[in-house]
Order: sequence, then structure tokens, then C-alpha cells
Amino acid sequence: MTSPALEFDNITKQYRSFFHNESVKALDGFSLRVEQGEIFGFLGPNGAGKTTAIHIALGFMFPSSGRGLMLGRPFGHAATRRRVGFLAENVAFYHRPAGRLVRFYGALNGMHGPQLRSCTAELLKELELSEVAGRNASKFSRGMLQRVGLAQALVNDPELLILDEPTSALDPLGRITVREILLKARNAGKTVFLSSHLLSEVEQICDRMAIVIKGRVARVGTVSELLEAQNRFVITARGIDELLFEGTRQNGFIKITVPALGQRQAIEKIWLAGGEVIAVNPIRRTLEDLFVELAHKNGGPHTEKRRQ
Ligand SMILES: Nc1ncnc2c1ncn2[C@@H]1O[C@H](COP(=O)(O)OP(=O)(O)O)[C@@H](O)[C@H]1O
Ligand SMILES: [Mg+2]
Repeated sequence: MTSPALEFDNITKQYRSFFHNESVKALDGFSLRVEQGEIFGFLGPNGAGKTTAIHIALGFMFPSSGRGLMLGRPFGHAATRRRVGFLAENVAFYHRPAGRLVRFYGALNGMHGPQLRSCTAELLKELELSEVAGRNASKFSRGMLQRVGLAQALVNDPELLILDEPTSALDPLGRITVREILLKARNAGKTVFLSSHLLSEVEQICDRMAIVIKGRVARVGTVSELLEAQNRFVITARGIDELLFEGTRQNGFIKITVPALGQRQAIEKIWLAGGEVIAVNPIRRTLEDLFVELAHKNGGPHTEKRRQ
């Protein structure tokens, strides 16, 4: 078996504020494994701990406890960083022309000469930045900055691409461009780890995803795995004693909602009670339904603050 692209092993991160005597547990027993070659969606409400997990993987800060591996090396291993492309949530750049910035980041990763120039030009073209490559990035809109950020993350042709909310400022066309770039990266055998709170986007391109709630992985799997486990059926029946079944009544019919696995048992129970099954209809749930349900089950979407 190949080693995973990313592995978080029971990580806890507590932020402390000395002034307010407060602490926030941003990650709490956080474990996750991302395989090589997949586009993995990292979903969660604001404040769930996504950025914290990413910063720990990149070695920007240490976990309070737990450990993990990035491309088979412990988090923070300096040489491994060269094999990784990263786009931060809030991109900020030096006041320099966009093209020069991208070349600068390539050079930081040991690239130079004609190879660096042609890679940069190609990426700028792909991200539709060629025309503005000579302009100072400090004057760019957030969407344009995000494109420069992506070019910077891709310039060293990384094996693992970690993107923290890469399309939050992009218009629909920009999103399509990014989607195409990410699919191309996967086809070239690369791993993409994409944090987002945009469910539809993740649903469209990710092979698997994790939903993080309050610093923990609440669910992980493919979209269909996540949604199948949620599937329910509505059985419409008549001719049964209303008191035997829990359901809603309408015009002499009773509608009973059951989980997918309880479907057969419920139908048998209706028959045994002398009733008639009129219809069995699946309820299709969306990722959004699941997301909202998980957030509420855990007492609201946000990480709590604790006074010590
Ligand atoms: N540097 C910090 N100091 C104190 N608290 C922080 C810091 N960074 C993040 N937090 C808190 O940790 C929690 C998780 O934040 P974050 O990892 O940014 O979540 P996400 O990226 O999922 O929105 C939030 O409650 C946030 O307020
Ligand atoms: Mg974040």
C-alpha cells in the first residue's frame, strides 16, 4: 500500500489567549487520512478548524498533542515543503507585478532560468492573467489575487496541492477555470486537498470529502457514501390502526418515514397489521441537509470558547 498524502493522527490544538484568560480548542482528536492521487474536499462551517489543520500540516505551528505525516514525512519537515503547493486563505502579496511574484515563488522552490519563465507564462495564461502580468498585484481585486495565489501554488509542479478556500472570491467563470486546473492536476497523478465551505463546488469535483465540525471529523467518504447513509423512505399505507404506527395522516392515508435499512421491516409490519402499502418513495437528501444536521447535532457550528 502506498503511503498517504496526508495523515493526521489524533491532533488537538488549543489556542490560548493570555490577556483574556480564554482558550479555544480548534482541533479536538482530529484524525484524517488523505490518499495520494485523490481530490479531497475538506468541508466545514467557519471556525470548524480547517485552516488550523492545514497550518499544522504545513508546519506553521505545532499541535498541542498528536502528530501527522505529509508525503510520508513528519509535519514541518522542511524539504518536503518543496513538493507541496499551498494557497493561503487570505492571500497577501508584496507590491510587485503579478508575473514577477509568481516567478519569485518558483525561485524560492529552487526553479530558475527558461524552465521557470515558461512555467510561469503557461500558468498565467491558464489562469487568464497574462494580460495583467505586468501590473502591480497590490491593485488587484480579491478574485485576481486568488488567481495569482493559485499560480504561485502551482508553479513548482507540486505533488500535493493544499488550497484553503481557493475560490471564495472567484466569479463562476473563475471557478470553472480552477475546477479544470484541479482535474488536470489529478489526472497527472497529483493529490489535491481543498478546503471549502462551498458544498456544491466540493460535490462537483472531489473524489472523497470530510466534514469537520468543531475540530473533529464528523463524516468522511465519497458523496454517495455520505448521502446513502442518510437515505430515508416514505411509505404510504392505508387500512392500518393509526396507533400502531408513527406517521402523518392525510385523507385516510398514513405516511411513515423510515431509514433505508428499516424499509422491509416496516412494510412487513403494515402487512401483518392487515394494511396495504400504496407507495414507497425515497427522500433524496443533499449534502447541505447533512451539513446542517451535523452542525446542529453538535450544538451549533462553531467552536466554543472556554474560560479557564
Ligand atoms: N491564532 C488564533 N488564536 C486564537 N484562536 C484562533 C486562532 N486561529 C483560529 N482560532 C480559532 O480556532 C477556531 C478554528 O479556526 P480556523 O482553523 O480558522 O477555522 P476554519 O478555517 O474552519 O474557519 C475558531 O474558533 C477560531 O476563532
Ligand atoms: Mg479557514
